[in-house]
Amino acid sequence: MKIAVSGKGGAGKTTVSSQLVRCFTLNNLPVFAVDADPDANLGLVLGLDLDQLERLRPLAELEDVIAAKNAGGGTLVDLNPNVDDVLENYTLHDGLLRFMKMGAIKQGGTSCYCKEHSFLNAVLTTMLLDRPEAVVLDMSAGIEHLTRGTAGGVELMLVVVEPTRAGVSTAKAVDGLAADLKINQVFFIGNKIRNDEDRAYLEASLPATRFAGMIPFTEKVLERARRGEPMVSKLEDLLPGLEKIYAMACGG
Ligand SMILES: Nc1ncnc2c1ncn2[C@@H]1O[C@H](COP(=O)(O)OP(=O)(O)O)[C@@H](O)[C@H]1O
Ligand SMILES: [Mg+2]
Repeated sequence: MKIAVSGKGGAGKTTVSSQLVRCFTLNNLPVFAVDADPDANLGLVLGLDLDQLERLRPLAELEDVIAAKNAGGGTLVDLNPNVDDVLENYTLHDGLLRFMKMGAIKQGGTSCYCKEHSFLNAVLTTMLLDRPEAVVLDMSAGIEHLTRGTAGGVELMLVVVEPTRAGVSTAKAVDGLAADLKINQVFFIGNKIRNDEDRAYLEASLPATRFAGMIPFTEKVLERARRGEPMVSKLEDLLPGLEKIYAMACGG
């Protein structure tokens, strides 16, 4: 199952992404976890080794690899370089998990960053369309790494939303972007739900039938974040509220 997670900053994208990644690994399923948010902290929340995380180079900054993949191309960008070696050699391995950071691509100006773009696009295409492993993409609200082509490989997009007006407003914007990209299944996940009013507020603000889950506000999540402990070490640690998604995606 290929999953993208989006929503407003602070809504809980990284929390939800880490739950799903661990649902896969705890059920013995291989998974690519992709940190595609410039505010990158999925590795920390997954509890990966700090030194290894520090040493891991974001894919957008692999100038040497990007140049080699385009070698001989001159100004022509190789639109479909083979990147299976990148998924193996430039990712952090933790059991069945392959973790990578996308990194930010500098924007336009006078120079073109076409090679970086086509490289990241090739990595996403390979993971989403060619490889059998599951994928969890932790994305910003802009979902700017996705294109019409790669979005076709996203089987499920989850838009995480807190019960606030700003949260709802961003969720609607993300839903619009996902529709433009023709992503098949887009569901909302309510997060940090404290009571019935929170739940009712979200169901009145967004189409109620499009909620695939509601996660309660959970002190343990904050406690673990404060201590820098991994969010999930065993199946019992998976947060309630995502059962439908767990069942659909990782059989948990
Ligand atoms: N259900 C929850 N209960 C309590 N705290 C939460 C919950 N979900 C997320 N948080 C906390 O809210 C903050 C933002 O969550 P995070 O997943 O990093 O958001 P995002 O990736 O969307 O910016 C973090 O400190 C996280 O621990
Ligand atoms: Mg995040």
